[in-house]
Amino acid sequence: MYYLTYRPKTIEEIDNVAPREIIKKILEGKSLPHAFLFVGQKGTGKTSTARIFAKSVNCLSNSFSKSHHTQKSVEPCNSCAHCKSIDKSSFPDVVEMDAASNRGINEIKSLIKESSFLPIAGSYRIFIIDEAHMITSDGFNALLKTLEEPSPTVIFILATTNMEKVPKTVLSRCIPVVFGKAKKDELVHMLQRICREEKLNISKEILEIIAQHSEGSFRDAAKLLEELVILNRLKEDEIKSYLGIRSKENLLGILHAKPISEALVWIDEFIHTGGSTKNLIEELLSQLHLMLLEKHKVGVKMPFSFSLQEIMLLMKVLSEAYNSLRHSPLESIPLEMAVVEFYSKRSEK
Ligand SMILES: Nc1ncnc2c1ncn2[C@@H]1O[C@H](COP(=O)(O)OP(=O)(O)OP(=O)(O)O)[C@@H](O)[C@H]1O
Ligand SMILES: [Mg+2]
Ligand SMILES: [Zn+2]
Repeated sequence: MYYLTYRPKTIEEIDNVAPREIIKKILEGKSLPHAFLFVGQKGTGKTSTARIFAKSVNCLSNSFSKSHHTQKSVEPCNSCAHCKSIDKSSFPDVVEMDAASNRGINEIKSLIKESSFLPIAGSYRIFIIDEAHMITSDGFNALLKTLEEPSPTVIFILATTNMEKVPKTVLSRCIPVVFGKAKKDELVHMLQRICREEKLNISKEILEIIAQHSEGSFRDAAKLLEELVILNRLKEDEIKSYLGIRSKENLLGILHAKPISEALVWIDEFIHTGGSTKNLIEELLSQLHLMLLEKHKVGVKMPFSFSLQEIMLLMKVLSEAYNSLRHSPLESIPLEMAVVEFYSKRSEK
């Protein structure tokens, strides 16, 4: 899997600029903070960066190593025994915990106890707490004192997709590192790195289309690229049709002016040529969104438009179809039902 193979292993490889620069500054600084909060949506590198950080401060051949006084770089070497063992998740001083399943007071108490021990193998014990916002309020309260005065060889890295759910008292004791959402350029940069390694010759325009459909997630972008490579759909119009961006005739155009039979045939063809209904519905909803804005005199001119009632009806049936996609035995069914509902309700009026 590309997204695992190309998980960043060095600070330099972290493709989002802001967190990369902050982490670098912190590691190059005189004294290390002892509690961090990594905030950002899924697939933006929180876990990857936490592991790079853990390797950096425990590496045996960089500036953190006691026997390498001449080494200036804070980058983990990725080849010493400590780096390798952290990569394999077998290093005793790096503890990864998922707060979604260990959220109660007892789990936190045992974590606090563990954090009072000296490192076994490395220089620092690193506790990476994923989904930190899931910790119960009792749990957070118990953790407060430890976050404020952890033992000098302990570093806590709390990661969350949901900062609003982390109590202010906890926030104020952590150094925030904001991962946010990946930007288009950053996604393209990562995709280019994968293409270089995989010897794929894909134009920047195509990588930009992939980036646009990845919802700001490096993981999604890497997965989408891999999907397209596996399906061998790498020409621009193949990708567009796969993503539901039909260049020739658009499904909304058919819904607007043609009979239902044509809409159903279109969908059938779309699916049989490898189109993804999930992507298609996303694309349709974003076009409807633009039409809605246009109705209220904001934004661009659309080539044609529905009435306001039709837009609302389409948005409703398509959102429902989107939500039931996962449970549908056949990918086409929710969309077909939405189309049938649209035609019948529209003619009622
Ligand atoms: N900053 C980045 N630069 C390059 N690739 C990245 C970056 N962040 C993430 N990726 C890619 O996305 C994948 C997922 O990253 P990671 O697990 O670090 O994200 P996360 O923020 O912890 O996500 P989640 O909230 O879902 O746990 C990685 O395996 C890697 O392929
Ligand atoms: Mg993670
Ligand atoms: Zn190393």
